[in-house]
Amino acid sequence: MATKTPITSILRVASRCRAPLLTPQSFLKCSNPQTPPRCCFHSAPTPPPCLPEFAFAFDIDGVLVRSSDPLPRAHKALSYLQSQRIPFILLTNGGGKHESDRVDDLAKKLEVPLDTSMFVQSHTPFADLDEYKNRTIMVVGGVEDMCRRVAERYGFKTVVTPGDILTAYPAVWPFSQQLLPYYETFSRPLPAPIDPTSPSTSLKIDAVFVYNDPRDWGLDTQVIKDVLLSHQGILGTLSEKNGNTALPNKGYQQDGQPPLYFSNPDLLWAAKYHLPRLGQGGFREALEGVWAALTGGEKNGVELKKIVIGKPHRPTYEFAEKRLVAHRKRLLEQNDDKLRSLKRVYMVGDNPESDILGGNSYNSPHGTDWVSVLVRTGVHVAGTVPKHTPRMEVGDVWDAVSWAVGQEKWAL
Ligand code: G3P
Ligand code: MG
Repeated sequence: MATKTPITSILRVASRCRAPLLTPQSFLKCSNPQTPPRCCFHSAPTPPPCLPEFAFAFDIDGVLVRSSDPLPRAHKALSYLQSQRIPFILLTNGGGKHESDRVDDLAKKLEVPLDTSMFVQSHTPFADLDEYKNRTIMVVGGVEDMCRRVAERYGFKTVVTPGDILTAYPAVWPFSQQLLPYYETFSRPLPAPIDPTSPSTSLKIDAVFVYNDPRDWGLDTQVIKDVLLSHQGILGTLSEKNGNTALPNKGYQQDGQPPLYFSNPDLLWAAKYHLPRLGQGGFREALEGVWAALTGGEKNGVELKKIVIGKPHRPTYEFAEKRLVAHRKRLLEQNDDKLRSLKRVYMVGDNPESDILGGNSYNSPHGTDWVSVLVRTGVHVAGTVPKHTPRMEVGDVWDAVSWAVGQEKWAL
């Protein structure tokens, strides 16, 4: 006859399952032999700890916050998961601040402890691009030059912004003269002059990164266009190969011009305003329009060669999954030897084009099933048919968590 285990040790066991200290009622609920919840006890003297084989990836804008305001049940959702030691990461197409600063902000707003090991912004993967850390890059977007400072904290040594170029050469873009006093407050001297008469000593850009939503589309479009039409990224020069029909892409971007990276494809996003606002994707579409007008565009066999990351793109999900797996291991490590592989990740988002398409199309190398859950607190509007079908559509983030843990038969 199995020895009766005194209630306290059961509750201790319960605490090992990090379920809130059980009241007898909930213990009774949990110990229903018919449908043993995943976190079930059995009379073994030291029942194995039950470790969640599922986790969450939460989008931020439109799921946890609207611009800077926390959404009503965001705190409840995240603090419940933390009480259960169910791993989650925050996976956003936003950015513009260093991860540690943004995490501090969000932790205060959502009143839950967060850290950078569970946090992925649109530009976070750029930190791994070591090949440009000792070269000259141009960083575009964001408030003032905050994105430059983020890039510097990633280890990029020479970072130029369009504002630096305008401050040094106001004629580069005649239509932001009224903004010069603004740019002068944070712009820096250029590492080299723009001098087409001496290309070898003129400012040369080795890569262009759009880190966050540009604030001055006119200036940023002009300067990026100048770099892409230049000879080898040397500002003030014009490549002789442009328009050469004998060359691929009609000679455009065929003369050692730098690569162009975008961190976030979102055309629309959910901000404070009641209707979605244009995002970094809107800027890219505008730039592509100017590029097409200048080069003849696709109907002339010319494309804008670029690298776009951010949800729904695979590199961002690979990066995020690595972070989640490592975070889960650290969170549950005391049971490392019993930690089985991650079976499911619930990708909770408000934007069908990024969160849902990304979750649906991500084929995990670990065989983990990414389950897309669409909420109605952001871009997606209740009653409309989303362009990409989620596994589940719910009201808000707490509904998403409740539904998911129900799927997992985990005590709510
Ligand atoms: O600029 C941010 C926006 O594009 C969306 O952010 O958190 O909804 O992925 P998020
Ligand atoms: Mg969103």
